[in-house]
Parts: sequence; C-alpha cells; structure tokens
Amino acid sequence: MQSTEDFRYEDYEETARWILDRIQSPPVIAIICGTGLGILADTLPEGKTFDYSQIPHFPRSTVVGHSGQLVFGTLEGKSCVFMKGRFHVYEGYPLWKVILPIRVFKLLGVKILIVTNAAGSLCETYRPGDLMIIRDHINMPGLAALNPLRGPNDERFGPRFPSLSNTYDHNLRCTALDIAHKLGHEDFTHEGVYCMVGGPNFESVAEARFLRRLGADAVGMSTAPEVVVAKHCGMRVFGLSLITNRVAQGYELQESVNHEGVLEVGKQRSQVLQDLITGLVKSIDLKEEEQQEPE
Ligand code: HPA
Repeated sequence: MQSTEDFRYEDYEETARWILDRIQSPPVIAIICGTGLGILADTLPEGKTFDYSQIPHFPRSTVVGHSGQLVFGTLEGKSCVFMKGRFHVYEGYPLWKVILPIRVFKLLGVKILIVTNAAGSLCETYRPGDLMIIRDHINMPGLAALNPLRGPNDERFGPRFPSLSNTYDHNLRCTALDIAHKLGHEDFTHEGVYCMVGGPNFESVAEARFLRRLGADAVGMSTAPEVVVAKHCGMRVFGLSLITNRVAQGYELQESVNHEGVLEVGKQRSQVLQDLITGLVKSIDLKEEEQQEPE
C-alpha cells in the first residue's frame, strides 16, 4: 500500500499536468464545498467538470451529500476550482489522500484556498443556520500525531516546521465580515474557533464539554488537514463553517444530531453561503496577491 513517503512530488505533478492539459485557464482560487454545500459550485456558469474517478491518483468520495467532482470555471472574473466533495479521515482515507487535492491545486497555481464545512455549535449563542468565519482551529487528530505533514518533508512544498500563525488570513476574515454586514447577515455571522475531530460519531456530552473548555466554538470532522497543508505551501486561507446543529452539553437536553439534519440545513442556507463566498471572491485583488511576499 502507498504511503505519504511513496507518493512523490512527481505524482502530484502528473495529476496537475493531466488537469492543465484539459482546462482553459489555471485556477488561482480553490473552493472546497463542505457537506451539503456542493451547490456552491453551481455558481460557475460554464464550468468544466471532472469526476474524481477520471483524475489520475485522485481518491473517490464515499459520503452521501458529497458528489466527487472538480469543477473549473470563472467566478467574478477569477479562475476558480471547486471541489465538490472532500475526503475525510473517517472514510478510512490516509491523510496523504485527504490532502492530495491541495498539493495538486498548489501545482496548478492556486494562491487562495476557501474552505467551507458543516459544523456543530459548542457556543451558547450560535444557532443552526448561523455562519462562523473561522478565526483559528484546534486540530485534535494533529495534536496526536495524525498530521498530514508527518513524515519526510518535501521542501518544494514548504518548510519542515511551518508556523500556523495567521493561518486563517486576517484580511480575508475582515473582508468577509464586512460583506456579511453589507448583506444584512450580521445577526447570524460569527467569528470563532473550529475544532476538528476524527468522527464519524458525533460527540458525547462529556467530549462536547471538554472541547468547549479547550476554547472551541464549533466542531466538525474535516478542514484542519487541508488547511495545514495549504498554509505549509504558502496559500492564503479563508474558512467558513455553516452551523448545522447544536452539540448537547447537558444530559437533560434532548438535542440529537444526524447526518440528514446536517444536509437539510446545508440546503436551506446554500444561497447565503453562495452570496458570501461570491462577494469574497469578487473582493480579492489578484494584482495585490502577486505582490505579496511568500512567507
Ligand atoms: N459534530 C461533528 N461534526 C459535525 C457536527 C457535529 O455536531 N455537525 C456537523 N458536522
């Protein structure tokens, strides 16, 4: 079986080349559509779509609500790639497969990664349907050495010991908050800390209390590995959680969560997310981007 060590730079290049041979203009922005949020990709008027199964070395998506396609096209005049369906650790994927698309995006020329996800609220004031701009994350699997950067480091992607300060780009967060205000979404848009857990079970009450005490505002089963790898290779990152449920932190509460409920909230809020992401993409000045010094 292949491991990170066996998957070489040249393999990422092979996948990138396959894609570049088939698209008109290389993407500068990559957008990962979280659970139930694949509809975001439908904003692209004339997207070129590839099923994951067509793309060399790409894993397949196995979760209901994740369709498993890369969609390339232009949004607000910027060349973008949408990932409809991501790969989760709970599906059984090794981390190198979870993050494979990010390194391929890097080789395609992507400068900015926008990640969306569905998450449960640990914060008293968040309600299902609210948005949380991710200020920072707690990577629970990563703290326990389930980190995508574990193993030999390829300096062509980034340094052995990358910093995670300002991982969720300050300017992009401020711009997104501004846009949320302008759209009249301020009452249900927050900024907070996302905690990644391995899943696939939702959290026990004791676990939810524990995560809250650690400083997490929302919890989900994705995002941190992709973000760590994006930051490692010098991308700017923006993250947005759609709060789909509250996570019970008391034994007397009858709150219960299921995957169908998560998908339903995703469907109800897809337009709101679409408007915010579209506004953010519109606001990005790519000339400024080119002038930014790589860290
Ligand atoms: N916990 C973990 N992941 C999730 C949740 C949750 O409550 N809701 C949506 N994804």
